[in-house]
Amino acid sequence: MIYLDNSATTWPKPRGMAAAMLECMHRYGASPGRAGHSMSLKVSERVYACREAVAELFGTEDPAGVVFTANATEALNIAIKGMLKPGDHAVITSMEHNSVLRPIHALTTAGVRYSMARGNIYGYVEPERIESLIRANTRLIVATHVSNVCGTVNPIEQIGEIAQKHGICFLVDAAQSAGVIPIDMERLHIDMLAAAGHKGLYGPQGTGVLCIRPHVNPDCLKQGGTGSYSEQKEQPEERPDKYESGTLNAVGICGLLAGVTFLKRVGVEQIGAHEARMAGMLMEDLSVIRGVRIHGLPTLAGRTGVVSFTVDGMDCVEIANELDARYGIACRAGYHCAYTAHQTIGTDRTGTVRLSPGAFSVVAQMKSTARAIAELARR
Ligand code: ALA
Repeated sequence: MIYLDNSATTWPKPRGMAAAMLECMHRYGASPGRAGHSMSLKVSERVYACREAVAELFGTEDPAGVVFTANATEALNIAIKGMLKPGDHAVITSMEHNSVLRPIHALTTAGVRYSMARGNIYGYVEPERIESLIRANTRLIVATHVSNVCGTVNPIEQIGEIAQKHGICFLVDAAQSAGVIPIDMERLHIDMLAAAGHKGLYGPQGTGVLCIRPHVNPDCLKQGGTGSYSEQKEQPEERPDKYESGTLNAVGICGLLAGVTFLKRVGVEQIGAHEARMAGMLMEDLSVIRGVRIHGLPTLAGRTGVVSFTVDGMDCVEIANELDARYGIACRAGYHCAYTAHQTIGTDRTGTVRLSPGAFSVVAQMKSTARAIAELARR
C-alpha cells in the first residue's frame, strides 16, 4: 500500500505510539483526575505531560488552556459556539472546511451573521480582504492555516495582527498545519487554535486539541462531571475542567503524547520540508502528463506538501478508485468536505484527486504514483 491520504489522517504512526497506548491500557488505564489511587495519579500525570507538550509545541503559555477533544471538529465547535452569541458577526474565509463553515452557518438561526473572505484562484486569502469585512459587531475571525484541498498557506501572522488591532478574537484551524509548520500562538496573535491529534501530531484517531489563551473565555458546549467542585451545581470555570466533562480518552492522549514526542524529536520544520520535497517530485512528474492539471499554487512556495489534481475528461472518484484497486495507492477524491474551497480554486464541478504525503513517505512511492497516474491518463 502506498498511503497518500495523510491530510485525512496520518499513517503509519511513529513506532512507540501504539506501544504508549497499550502501556496505558495495561498498566494505568484508570480514569484521570477522578481518584487519589496510584493508577489514577499515574494516568493523570501522563495526561498533564501531554498538555504541557502541546502547549510548548504551539507556544501558548498555559497548559491548562490545552483542552482535549475528540478531533479538530469538536475543538472548532467549542471555539465557535462558545464565542458567538446572538447579534454577533464573524469573518471566515472561503477556504474553510465544513468543520468551520457548518457550525457558524448553524448559528445563523440564532441570530449570528458571518461574512466570507474569498481567496484567489490559488486559495490564498488576502488579509486586507478579511479586514474589509470587519463590522462593529464582529466578534470572531476564523481562518484555516492551510487548505486541506490544495495546501495553500494563509497569512495567519497578518490576519492575527488585524484581529489584534481591532480587538477581535482570532481562531485558527490548524488541522492541516499542526506538525507541518511551526506555530507560535503568542507571536502570531492567535487566541484559539484547533488541531487534530491524529493528523500532523501523529496521535491516534479520537484525539484533538483546542488551545485557548488565558485572556479568552468561550462558553463550554457540555456540562457534567469534572472530578472537581462536585458539591457545586454550576460547571466549574477552572480550566481545563470547564471544557472536559466526562472521562477523558486517556489511552488516546497517551498515544498523542508519543506522537508529539516524535514530532519534537524529528522537528516540525524537517517534517514539513520532507513532505514538500515529496510533493515537489509529484508536481514535477504530474506536470508533464498530458491532460493533468495541478490545482492551487503552481510551485512549492506558499504551500505544504499536498497535491490536488484533475485529469481532463476523467472522473476524480474513478481515478482514486483505480489508483486503489490497480496500484494499491490510497488517496482521497471529491470535495474533501470543503466545497467553498473548490468554488474558490475553480474545481467545484469536478472536485480533485488529492495526494497527501506524510512523514514516512519515500521517493520510490512518489515515482510509482506518478507512473500510475500517467498510465491512467493515457487510457
Ligand atoms: N478533513 C480531512 C480531509 O481533508 C478529513 O481529508
